[in-house]
Amino acid sequence: MKPQSFKNRDIHQIGDPVDSIQNVREHAYKELKATRDADSVRVLTTRYLGRKGILTKLLRSVSTLPPDQRATFGKEANALKGILEQMFKVALERFEHFAEKEEDWVDISLPGRVPAIGALHPLTQVMGEICDIFSKMGFDIAEGPEVETDYYNFEALNIPKDHPARDMQDTFYVSDNIVLRTHTSPVQIRTMKQQRPPVRVIVPGKVFRCDSDLTHTPMFHQVEGLLVDEGVSFGDLKGTLTVFVHQIFDEQTALRFRPSFFPFTEPSAEVDIACVMCRGAGCRVCSHTGWLEILGSGMVHPALFENVGYDPEQYTGFAFGMGVERIAMLKYGIDDIRKFFDNDARFLMQF
Ligand code: FA5
Ligand code: MG
Repeated sequence: MKPQSFKNRDIHQIGDPVDSIQNVREHAYKELKATRDADSVRVLTTRYLGRKGILTKLLRSVSTLPPDQRATFGKEANALKGILEQMFKVALERFEHFAEKEEDWVDISLPGRVPAIGALHPLTQVMGEICDIFSKMGFDIAEGPEVETDYYNFEALNIPKDHPARDMQDTFYVSDNIVLRTHTSPVQIRTMKQQRPPVRVIVPGKVFRCDSDLTHTPMFHQVEGLLVDEGVSFGDLKGTLTVFVHQIFDEQTALRFRPSFFPFTEPSAEVDIACVMCRGAGCRVCSHTGWLEILGSGMVHPALFENVGYDPEQYTGFAFGMGVERIAMLKYGIDDIRKFFDNDARFLMQF
């Protein structure tokens, strides 16, 4: 908006001195309101209060008035002068202040920005849930190194030198004797070497295998479980895992123990759950079998007890190892394991 301008004589044409003051005041206010920067305020200040300014001239015209009007006129004109001086000064300061701090301007009419709040990764959440369930059953949490020796990852677990699990295709070797652990089972050995029975631990952690497709990634997570005491039976293993499956999925989820083989358990079983997508009817996700494998398990092999110095005649125990990604996929109906590691926030925000 352009400041309104008018000529001095517009004011001087007005005969009544009180009208003149009123007129000058109104024009000054209007013009001040229209200013948009410090320079336009300076121009106004000169126009009204300068040596040849409108108000200055008006004040000088006091001598042309009849004597009885001079006092009132002078008083009012001086009062206006004081007001204008103050107003111009404040306006000038304000413009100069904001010009200096232009980068600090805030447009209060803009909508607010909602800060993005982070959340736990779905795998972290599922891992936490798994740990919670077993903690309530009295299991302690143990951890072990991700870079492991051949001894703990294989040898002490009764995996002989020529076992297929040692094949270079599955295992990332750091050196001849050092590997990235291929499962959380080495922590069974580490724990038993540190403690005497009763032992009751679960072991959440990262594991690594040279493997990659729709259901396999080179890095994934397992939760190991180990319970050793006198008189532990396969029934205890079944009961514990049944309670777990009912809590992590729901009470209606059926499970079955399928005979399997692991060098470190005897007998061994893999646990399948009724497919959560089709409730066992058969679908793409379960390859039309109605069942999905979630973990490996079994009774601790006596050879392990000998390796850690437990008496196999006195103690028995069970162990299990579950794939966390697998459980998360079933829980949330995710069909591609790689989605967990793409770090696409649109995917991750759904959990
Ligand atoms: C084992 O790793 C045994 N250590 C489990 C075990 C522990 C058995 C204690 C007995 C006693 P397996 O190789 O089957 O077993 O792996 C266990 C689970 O890990 C599988 O059921 C699967 O859910 C998951 N898994 C295996 N490989 C991958 C992979 N490349 N990507 C994602 N998940 C995987
Ligand atoms: Mg398996």
